[in-house]
Amino acid sequence: MAQSKAKNTPGAKTPPEPSGSEPPPLSWAQTHLLDAHTLTADEVETVLAEARTFAEILNRPVKKVPLLRGKVIVNLFYENSTRTRTSFELAGKYLSADTINFSVDTSSVKKGETLIDTAQTLMAMGIDAVVIRHASPGVPYQLAQFFGHRVSVLNAGDGMHEHPTQSLLDLYSMRQRLESVEGRKVVIVGDILHSRVARSNIHLLNKLGADVHAVGPTTLLPADLDKLGCTVHHQIEPALQQADVVMCLRLQLERQQSGLIPSLGEYARLFGINRHRLMTYPKPNVLLMHPGPMNRGVEITSDVADDPAVSLILNQVTSGVAIRMALLHLLIGHRDMVKQPGLDVLGASGSPNDVLALAEAELQAGGAL
Ligand code: CP
Repeated sequence: MAQSKAKNTPGAKTPPEPSGSEPPPLSWAQTHLLDAHTLTADEVETVLAEARTFAEILNRPVKKVPLLRGKVIVNLFYENSTRTRTSFELAGKYLSADTINFSVDTSSVKKGETLIDTAQTLMAMGIDAVVIRHASPGVPYQLAQFFGHRVSVLNAGDGMHEHPTQSLLDLYSMRQRLESVEGRKVVIVGDILHSRVARSNIHLLNKLGADVHAVGPTTLLPADLDKLGCTVHHQIEPALQQADVVMCLRLQLERQQSGLIPSLGEYARLFGINRHRLMTYPKPNVLLMHPGPMNRGVEITSDVADDPAVSLILNQVTSGVAIRMALLHLLIGHRDMVKQPGLDVLGASGSPNDVLALAEAELQAGGAL
């Protein structure tokens, strides 16, 4: 039996959907990106609009513009990552910033240095932004409080709390195929209890008017999940009915010993997404998503994961670079504006296309990269 979701999700706003070829109005006043929960619908549209512009650069033979030349971005990852760290690094490089991967394993963190001492040390070297992944929820907020407007902080995943850039790239990927997510049924499947990806997606999708559903073993669903703004199911088939998007989550194998699920085989049998389930219950053009890394044969089978007709998984990875370029540009640009009031980093008309036009003009005028 499904529990119905809260009708008036706190913070939900009517989404401004793109109308025709009109670019959406730009709205940005943040120094940090700490969560998806507090982003306004206008800010979300601004990030997506910028990302659409930057995605064009990814198709060029020379993937570089000088927008963040002279800026320094540090990837500070206290947890493992393939997608998030690499795409932040590439995003910074494509914007001509100097990007540094701070290795916790070979740093003074191993000698007991505190997070704030590490932050202070990096700031003393003149950095402009920190991309932080940490096992403890709230660490990005601590850093943002310490840095103020001096250094931008981007949350790349904090414990079980949030992974805002993942939800923005997921939304961007959905909108490439669906145009609007308003009224679309998005079903999140699996280990929602431990998932920062699920939390950020639920917040963002609600903000833009999607019909969000969640399904998984009862032991992997947090209490009061419906209060976050989604309809909760305990069986996969009814959850998948008429779905527009099915978003699998990684089953956190490291937690299997805790006894929350009896076995991987049983999880796959009851909640795994395979071709039969995907072709039987959702809408015919259903889209399949997964944030990665995948446990093939457990939460998802390879025949659907690798089928480009249904799977958005690699599109999600590509979208991640454009979204992170957009965010780095908006955040570091905004920080400069705070330091130098009157400087309009979005260009004369505020259009994201103007940003690229300015960058191109600078290149043609002989600006060295
Ligand atoms: N989706 C995601 O965060 O993947 P990584 O852990 O590889 O960064």
